[in-house]
Amino acid sequence: MKNIEWRNETLILLDQTKLPTEVEYIHCTDWRQVAEAIKMLRVRGAPAIGVAAGYGLILAARETSTNDLPFNEQLSEFYEFAEILKETRPTAINLAWAVNRILSMVKASAFTSMSDIITAITKEAEIIHKEDIELNTRMANHGASLFEGQQQIRILTHCNAGALATGGLGTALGVIRKLHSNGQLAMVYADETRPLLQGSRLTAFELHEDGIPVTLETDNMAAYAMQQGLIDAVIVGADRITTKGDVANKIGTYGLAVLAKAHNIPFYVAAPYSTFDFTMADGRNIPIEMRSDDEVLSFQGVPSAPTGIKVLNPAFDVTPHELISAIITEEGVLQPNYEMSIKQLQDSVNKR
Ligand code: MRU
Repeated sequence: MKNIEWRNETLILLDQTKLPTEVEYIHCTDWRQVAEAIKMLRVRGAPAIGVAAGYGLILAARETSTNDLPFNEQLSEFYEFAEILKETRPTAINLAWAVNRILSMVKASAFTSMSDIITAITKEAEIIHKEDIELNTRMANHGASLFEGQQQIRILTHCNAGALATGGLGTALGVIRKLHSNGQLAMVYADETRPLLQGSRLTAFELHEDGIPVTLETDNMAAYAMQQGLIDAVIVGADRITTKGDVANKIGTYGLAVLAKAHNIPFYVAAPYSTFDFTMADGRNIPIEMRSDDEVLSFQGVPSAPTGIKVLNPAFDVTPHELISAIITEEGVLQPNYEMSIKQLQDSVNKR
């Protein structure tokens, strides 16, 4: 099932808010539809929103090319649209990374018409998409190397860091898929992931569709599962990783890392280079997206709390690097000291 496809000048997105009960696609011909889809989590997961935004910029450039303004004004309008698209979700750096990558390419080239810009953006957006597919595969192989010689492995994961969240196999779920194909995986425990249930709606759906053994648990069952000896390792994705190795990921990830430490269970994070914020050291500076009260006060339109009460709804939390056993990337497995290993990652990215 494709989650993102660019076809006939249209961005086709699988509407993830409808899963698992309905498989529906949205056809975006206007960049504002892409912005709405990102904001409303129709397309979600850090790498996937980066890929979608890349294609969204083609639509933004196309719109500016149809007005009667001089080229420099068309270009300024395009930059304004790009900024709006970039700000739809603040925590996952992949979104800003993809938009900035395309804007830098446009600014560095001496284009004289919007139609040349559209051609160049299309090429770059397709490269970003293809690259993500390839990075997922490399990450999966490196991640599986952490489990060499182990059999009957039971992994706990949180949220959805799978094919639905990326262009390819997934980050955390890419590693899990590789362990499954090696015959080493016994079970994936999927956290339901309150409040929007990415774990039950998406991860359990994705794994079940692919015949990978999955057991669903609500988030508050993770401590029980660990205490009962049901979990050998935790693997999660990431929305932003700082140069110290602090990791922002779906709300609840930090709690899992604390639990894993208390039960002496390795806690792994899987993410491509586009999730690293090489300009930020301390995870406390990561902007945390606060979402609407309604997501907590009701579920799919049905109230689940009294109206008029206060709600806390951060979409992400930050796990300090001390709690992370290793970070799986396409370049290899990064071990602590993360300041050093992330610097090496940055150097190899710069050499590409
Ligand atoms: O709010 P979401 O569903 O976009 O949150 C997604 C996550 O937190 C994922 O774990 C993260 O983006 C990594 S996806 C490979």
